[in-house]
Amino acid sequence: MSQAIHRVPAEWATSAKIDAAGYAERYERSISDPDGFWAEEAKRLDWIEPFARVKETSFAEADFGIKWFADGKLNVSANCLDRHLAERGDTVAILWEPDTPGEARRITYRDLHAEVCRLANILKDNGVSRGDRVTLYMPMIPEAAMAMLACTRIGAIHSIVFGGFSADALAGRIQDCDSTLVITADEGLRSGKAIPLKGNLDEALKRCPSVQKVVVVRRTGGAVTMQEGRDLWYHEALETASADCAPEAMGAEDPLFILYTSGSTGQPKGVLHTTGGYLVWASMTHDYVFDYRPGDIYWCAADVGWVTGHTYVVYGPLANGATTVMFEGVPNWPDPSRFWELVDKFGVNIFYAAPTALRALMREGDDYVTRTDRSSLRLLGSVGEPINPEAWDWYHRVVGDGRCPIVDTWWQTETGGAMISPLPGATDLKPGSATKPLFGVQPQLVDTEGKVLDGATEGCLVITDSWPGQMRTVWGDHDRFFQTYFTTFPGKYFTGDGARRDADGDYWITGRIDDVINVSGHRMGTAEVESALVAHAKVAEAAVVGMPHPVKGQGIYAYVTLNANVPDSEELRKELSQWVRREIGPIATPDVIQFAPGLPKTRSGKIMRRILRKIAEGDIGSLGDTSTLADPAVVDNLIENRPMMP
Ligand code: PRX
Repeated sequence: MSQAIHRVPAEWATSAKIDAAGYAERYERSISDPDGFWAEEAKRLDWIEPFARVKETSFAEADFGIKWFADGKLNVSANCLDRHLAERGDTVAILWEPDTPGEARRITYRDLHAEVCRLANILKDNGVSRGDRVTLYMPMIPEAAMAMLACTRIGAIHSIVFGGFSADALAGRIQDCDSTLVITADEGLRSGKAIPLKGNLDEALKRCPSVQKVVVVRRTGGAVTMQEGRDLWYHEALETASADCAPEAMGAEDPLFILYTSGSTGQPKGVLHTTGGYLVWASMTHDYVFDYRPGDIYWCAADVGWVTGHTYVVYGPLANGATTVMFEGVPNWPDPSRFWELVDKFGVNIFYAAPTALRALMREGDDYVTRTDRSSLRLLGSVGEPINPEAWDWYHRVVGDGRCPIVDTWWQTETGGAMISPLPGATDLKPGSATKPLFGVQPQLVDTEGKVLDGATEGCLVITDSWPGQMRTVWGDHDRFFQTYFTTFPGKYFTGDGARRDADGDYWITGRIDDVINVSGHRMGTAEVESALVAHAKVAEAAVVGMPHPVKGQGIYAYVTLNANVPDSEELRKELSQWVRREIGPIATPDVIQFAPGLPKTRSGKIMRRILRKIAEGDIGSLGDTSTLADPAVVDNLIENRPMMP
């Protein structure tokens, strides 16, 4: 824990939208008068029909339900586009930088509106109507944002599958929500390498009978097979599509999007967000956390395949009429100056990224940063995983020249937007702490029995009441939603995270306390990697745990028991690694595979993950009690045969 405190700079305290007193006052009101507070905040959106009801929520089993602004009607694309046209039609909405340094695309609100309307008409012409699911398997190109907005325009529900996921993972996500149409690109590009998106999709679609149509954006011009009657080129369809498409009036509680995320058990869950509450949350948090000002150049370096890309590349900034930067490439290609060169190229004022990228860049030395100007930067943000104080200091001192506050935003796919975060004009910063709850967020720390812990303490992080951006259900399995989040500590939303609270009431997220690991800011269920491994013909059993990793935050450590008479070898290790990449995607590639003749199990056959975690961490001095194991000798074998760390 770092002891440093960075006080709110005087100029921020006087100029920011919200100062310390403002935060305290508004926070208090958001809790004591949620209906009044949120009715006020919801005015930031245009409503087609105003709401009379505001908060109708309960986490208790007897009357469980989450509804916000339920009788209001609105359209997300109209809020992100149409209402800006009169004042900001010629303002750049999306500022896009390609993978290979080159010519940026500047898409104004007017142009974005026209193209979204055209695409919405293409979707309609191809059989998509309100409530239908559309899967997006796209690179980071403006068409990804256009596709999202086009869905919202006609009330279709989008489900984005990150372009790094394999054909298998994609197929599972298409099948789960029965999408009828998929939008993709011929290929994606990352650090000069092509990713065969359409090829992967073709493979996936062999198992997805619900899909009737595929719209393909031409990104690279690489060779693809187009299936007659099913596949159409985006650019060709666009030529004849009308730019006239009235936005559908959606109920505030109508589904907006599904986003699959990993949990501690089984298949990824389709997290469902709805229209009104989500957009209020996205807009409000983007506005206050980043102290957004009209004219700012704002860059969130996340991919639209993750929730951060949904809320802070597309919906939050566009709802607020901002210029949002979209970057197709990676931080260290062609070299580790890329981010900072882009900051200079576009004059970026607000920059938001994941600690894993910062740690990777930090290793390359300060020179790549200091040779750029960066004087346009005003505010920095961090998201997705705990930021270690060293990375925080580097970000602050080197990237921000000691001048820019850092907002360390804690949140989750499930929460829709930032939940615990500093406000730059209000909150003293502590490297590694996400600090204080945002408006309407009531965090609590409890012990494993559910007893509420007061004062400076450490425990399981729960949220005791609903906020507008909260997920509403797991697609197709409402019971799983309730079971997953509201039964561990009845009546409370359980985040899956552990946290500490210090004497100032600041929160320090310590990481997941369930079987979810956070690899480079990407959430991965250990159970998913295990089921990929055991699907291999030579594998009898597998157990996967997280291990500390200097750049990724956590790495993937897999213990694998082979079938009888299958010899282990380096080749097999490589083969299994490749296998997992193919089954799930490159982000799930194990960092370490240890062949284990046996796994530590209790007499009832339960794998003791606590022990496996300790061995993976190299913390073999404190394995704790192993006497309850069916065969304690297994542990000695694992320790002796621990592979060299990468
Ligand atoms: O463990 C927390 C970690 O990321 C998890 C949520 O992952 P995901 O749903 O993929 O959303 C990531 C983008 C919001 C959380 O349960 N996490 C996220 N932000 C932080 C964090 N851990 C510490 N500090 C953060 N700022």
